[in-house]
Amino acid sequence: MCPDLSVQLAPGNKNGLLVANPVMTASGTFGYGTEYSQIFDIQRLGAIVCKGTTLEPREGNPQPRLFETASGLLNSIGWQNIGVKALIKEKAPVWADWQVPVIVNIGGDTVDDYARLAQELDGVRGISGIEVNISCPNVKVGGAAFGVDPDSASQVTAAVRAATSLPVIVKLTPNTSDIAGVASAAAGAGADAVSLINTLKATAIDIKKRRPAIGSIICGLSGPAIKPVALAMVYEVAGAVKVPVIGCGGIASAEDAIEFIMAGASAVQVGTATFGNPRASLDVLEGIERFMEEEGIKSLGEITGAARG
Ligand SMILES: Cc1cc2nc3c(=O)[nH]c(=O)nc-3n(C[C@H](O)[C@H](O)[C@H](O)COP(=O)(O)O)c2cc1C
Repeated sequence: MCPDLSVQLAPGNKNGLLVANPVMTASGTFGYGTEYSQIFDIQRLGAIVCKGTTLEPREGNPQPRLFETASGLLNSIGWQNIGVKALIKEKAPVWADWQVPVIVNIGGDTVDDYARLAQELDGVRGISGIEVNISCPNVKVGGAAFGVDPDSASQVTAAVRAATSLPVIVKLTPNTSDIAGVASAAAGAGADAVSLINTLKATAIDIKKRRPAIGSIICGLSGPAIKPVALAMVYEVAGAVKVPVIGCGGIASAEDAIEFIMAGASAVQVGTATFGNPRASLDVLEGIERFMEEEGIKSLGEITGAARG
């Protein structure tokens, strides 16, 4: 018998977010999904999270924007995206015919930006949920990210919650001293689920040029290098909130994903691994299926949080 991999990621939401399996793509690493539909059967995935979307189209950060480090990738793509209006007009109608749910990742400069984005996306056919990227700087209060403290995380979440009936996933930044506090604040303000982690603050220097290797200087580290950090944060957050936790950070294999699930994640996102292997997310899914069959595991619930005390 095939194991049951389905999972409800928004149990508290009237629409719910039932996914056929726990493997999703991470925002910014899978475009709008359409790019990969030629390469493999993306309909088999649990969900697709699209590139971060803003109210207006954006060009992104200055070049160079990518740099490889030992076991990791530095990026400062920024918000290069087509803007919410074009997304609704051009992408959502394509997604509406897909079996795989698509979640739109949003970012803004102010609480009001997030609320307006959520309002625009509410009720659009083809959109199954919103992932709120709270790693973005809050321009009204000196540029610290919304996700660094529980109060500002709570404000953004509450504003998005009030503006949409879609499932809301709040995506946490690791660049805070209190990720469990931020997660609890987001859950308390109406998040249906939390996802973590976004990239870790980082940089590199080109010693021949005597200049930073990345145009924006400070950028984000992702890939295998951040997996143990992400796993510890997922473990901590899963102990602090009752809403589903979606684990992300350096996941490149089924074994990596199973570690996150055993730490308490209900689902996982595959990001940077896709750049080396475009079908990494599907390989992760197939590996989880094999593991469950080999171990005689009938449903995902049997191993979710299995490594917790
Ligand atoms: C090139 C690139 C672009 C990204 N863009 C976004 C984005 O638009 N919104 C967001 O919330 N996260 C974005 N991320 C963060 C990823 O979704 C993910 O949280 C992070 O890379 C850690 O996972 P990984 O190690 O599997 O890549 C981006 C990451 C990369 C590498």
